[in-house]
Amino acid sequence: MCGIVGFIGNKNAKDIILNGLTKLEYRGYDSAGMSLYNTRYQIFDIYKDVGRVQHLIDSAKNSALSNIGIGHTRWATHGKVNKENSHPHYSQSRRFIIVHNGVIENYQALKSQYLKYSNFTSDTDTEVIAQLIETFSETLHVDNAILTTLKLLKGSYALLILDSQDPEKVYAAKYKSPLLIGKSDEGITIASDLMALVGYSDTYYPLEDKTFVVASRDDVRVFNLNHELIQPNFKKIELDHADTEKGVYAHYMLKEINEQPAVVRRILTNYYDTETSRIPKSLISAIQQSDRIYILAAGTSMHAGLIGKNLFEKITNIPTEVHIASEFAYQRPLLSKSPFFILVSQSGETADLRACLVELKTSNYQILTITNVPSSTLAREATFALEIHAGPEIAVASTKAYIAQIAILALLANSITESSIDMKKELSIVANAIENFLANESILTHVRNKLTKPNCFYIGRGLDYYTGLEASLKLKEISYIQTEGFAAGELKHGTIALIEEGTPVIALISDPKINHNTRSNLNEVSARGANTLHIVTSNCEEPEDEIILDTVHPLLTPMIMVVPTQLISYYAALERSHDIDKPRNLAKSVTVE
Ligand code: F6R
Repeated sequence: MCGIVGFIGNKNAKDIILNGLTKLEYRGYDSAGMSLYNTRYQIFDIYKDVGRVQHLIDSAKNSALSNIGIGHTRWATHGKVNKENSHPHYSQSRRFIIVHNGVIENYQALKSQYLKYSNFTSDTDTEVIAQLIETFSETLHVDNAILTTLKLLKGSYALLILDSQDPEKVYAAKYKSPLLIGKSDEGITIASDLMALVGYSDTYYPLEDKTFVVASRDDVRVFNLNHELIQPNFKKIELDHADTEKGVYAHYMLKEINEQPAVVRRILTNYYDTETSRIPKSLISAIQQSDRIYILAAGTSMHAGLIGKNLFEKITNIPTEVHIASEFAYQRPLLSKSPFFILVSQSGETADLRACLVELKTSNYQILTITNVPSSTLAREATFALEIHAGPEIAVASTKAYIAQIAILALLANSITESSIDMKKELSIVANAIENFLANESILTHVRNKLTKPNCFYIGRGLDYYTGLEASLKLKEISYIQTEGFAAGELKHGTIALIEEGTPVIALISDPKINHNTRSNLNEVSARGANTLHIVTSNCEEPEDEIILDTVHPLLTPMIMVVPTQLISYYAALERSHDIDKPRNLAKSVTVE
C-alpha cells in the first residue's frame, strides 16, 4: 500500500509533499517521511519517523526551502514499524534517495547476488533498490543504472528517486502499483493518487506498467524500460478541493455516509439520458452472450457483489457466482463455457483483483471493472469499465462506494433484459429512504444501550444475511468489537453456544416472507440472554422493533438496510475514541497480495 508524492518546479516542495501525504494517508499511516534539497549544504535532508503525517509536519517545520523533494506514508510490509524502516531510504553513500510503494519479492536474492558487501540500515526491500542503483551507477549513466535495476525487480513498485549529484531531477518508475504525473506551469507533481495532485496540477497522466520517468522543473519525459520515449496523453483534472475535504463533519466516514442519497442521485444523472440507460450496448451484448457471470471482489466490494448476484439472477436469469478475489486468483473454480467477469473495486487498484485480471486476460475473457476511479489500473486494463460516481472515498471503511456499487450492479442487470422494473424510479425511492432515515436517526442511543460487550452478532436471512456480513465487517473494522454476520437460521447449528447474558444480537429484517422465521431465531437468542436490536423495513414492522426504515424495492433493500449499520459502526468507534477514518493496521487501497 503506502502513498508517495514528489515535486519539482517553482514552488515550495515541502507544502506540496505534506499536503499530498495528508491526502494519501488513507493508504497507510504507520510512519511518514520526506526528503528535501538543502542548497546550503548541497545535500538532500531526510525527515522520517514512526507516526502520522502530522508528526512529520511538526518535525520538518524548520526545513530549508526546497523546490524539489519526495515523500512517503507507510503501511509496513517488510520490517517492523520503526524509524529505520520508514521511507525515504538511501544508498550507502547517500547519493540516491528513494521512496517506494509495493513489494519486491526477490530482494533477498538480489541482495546476496549483487550487494554482498553493502551495509544496510533497514530491513526493507526498498533499501536494496537504492543500493542496486548506486552499484550500477558506478559504471552506467544514472538513467541506465535505474533501468538496469528495474529490470531485475520481481514484484510491484511505484518509485520516486532523487540523485544528490543532480538535484534538478526526480526519477520515477511504475509496475503494478499506481503512479500518476500531474503538470502545471509551476511544476511536476508525481503521486500515488489523483487526490494528491489536486490544487497543484491542471492535468494528469496515469503511468502504464513498466515505465520510467525523468522529471525536471518544466519538462517530463516518459520511457519504457528499453529507454524508448512514450508520448503521454495528459487529461484535465476534474476533482476539486471540496471533494477531498471533511467540510462540516467530524470525520470523513460520517460525511460519506451522509453523502449517500446524493451519490445515488448522481449515478442516475450520469447513467440516464431521459429514460434510457447509458450503459454501452457492446457491454450489454457481451453479458447477454454469456452463460454465467462471475463477480470477483474483496471485502466490502465483495459484499456488494453478493447483492449483485441476487440482482443478476432475479432480473436476468443468468447464473451468477461471487468469489473472493484472493481465492479465485490461485484456486480458480471450474468455469462455464462462456463466462463473463465483473470485477468490483472502489479503488480499482486492489492487488488480489489485479492478479485475477492478469490471469483472465491471458485467456482473452471479457472483463468489466466497476470502480470509483476511472483512471485506475483495473479500469484501464479491463475490456469495459463503469464508474460508480461516489466521489473520493477517503475514510478507510467503505460506505458510499458500497451503496454506489449496488446501484450500478442494479442498473446493469436491468439493462440486460426487457425488465419490468423502472430502476431509475426505484433508485430514486432508495435515495429518499436513506435521506429520511438520516434526517431522524438516533443510533447513538442504541449503541450506548446495546453494544456493551466485546463481541456482537448480526443475523438475517436472504439479502439481510448479506447485509449482516457487510455490517459485521464494518463494525469490527473500526470499533474492534469482534463481530460475526450470521445466517439467522444457521445460528442454532453451533454458534448459538456463544450467546450469553447481554451478548448484542442485531437482527436485520426486510423480507415479509421470512420475517417470522428470523423472529423465531431472535426469540431463541433472547431466551438465552441476548441483548437484541431490531432493524426492519416498514413492511415487516412489529411493535417491539427499534429502527424502522422505509420500504423500498425488494431487490434494493440492502441499500437502505446497511445505512443504520454504518452508523452503528461509526458511533461504536466514536464511543471508544478510536481513529475512525484510519483504523489500526489497515489501509484504504490494498495494493499488495
Ligand atoms: C472495508 C473496505 C475493504 C475494501 C476492500 C476492497 O470497509 O473498505 O474491505 O472493500 O479492501 O477494496 P476495493 O473495493 O478498493 O477493491
